[in-house]
Amino acid sequence: MPRLSVNGIDLHVVDRGTGRLLLLVHGFPLDHSMWHGQIGQFAATCRVIAPDLRGFGQSPVTDEPVTMATYADDLAALLDALNVTEPVCFCGLSMGGYIAWEFVARHRHRLGSLILCDTRAAADNEAARRTREQAARRVLKEGPDFLADGMIDKLFVKSTREQHPEIITQTQQVIRSTSPVSIAAASRAMAARPDVTGRLPDIDVPTLLLVGQHDAISPPSEMRRIATALPHATFVEIPDAGHMAPLERPDAVNAAIEYFLAEIRNLN
Ligand code: MLT
Repeated sequence: MPRLSVNGIDLHVVDRGTGRLLLLVHGFPLDHSMWHGQIGQFAATCRVIAPDLRGFGQSPVTDEPVTMATYADDLAALLDALNVTEPVCFCGLSMGGYIAWEFVARHRHRLGSLILCDTRAAADNEAARRTREQAARRVLKEGPDFLADGMIDKLFVKSTREQHPEIITQTQQVIRSTSPVSIAAASRAMAARPDVTGRLPDIDVPTLLLVGQHDAISPPSEMRRIATALPHATFVEIPDAGHMAPLERPDAVNAAIEYFLAEIRNLN
């Protein structure tokens, strides 16, 4: 996995295939490997770029505070470093979706289309902010094991937990090996993110919204409301999946993405 010097840090990135550009942006507190079920498939027809965000996976930890805009600017600089000039399809899951909103606001000219998986447009309420701050303090004190143990039921549906223990183990390994400093910084950045609901009617690119039927963090009802507010949105619910739909049901997710990408090709 090559490293590229971007905004003063060496970001690790998977860069595979040729053709239209699909940028895959992982959720919290994970890395590019959550797109395992998409990278191989889409690299056959697209150029797939799947980075580890700063402080996650193999990308180094930085000690400055971050915001969703920091990650969005890193991604724009990464595209520069990879000599990408054509519009990209930005596909983000959950925190990757929060970053997508900032990418739209700050780097609109780089964007051709959006895929938003299991994400939210609303900001955190006060209780959620307090919980994130407690988690940030605890992870700095104790390390990430409590998150690796405590998040699984929220991320995955029961059938995934029972039938695919390898997915659970792999996800827990990623969380356990993530730096507490990066987890705390991202937690605080998510707590501080703005409510972007009012921006939705101005997002004028074709957008696919994907959500696991049983997503407990960004439920289908909430994502359906985002789809209604967006001018060019397609909404797809993935049966028998939770928050990590692309990992849990890659075939259904990939079929929805394939269909969306083909529709966009027909538009152009
Ligand atoms: C994620 O999957 O990125 C997180 O669950 C997002 C969040 O905690 O709001």
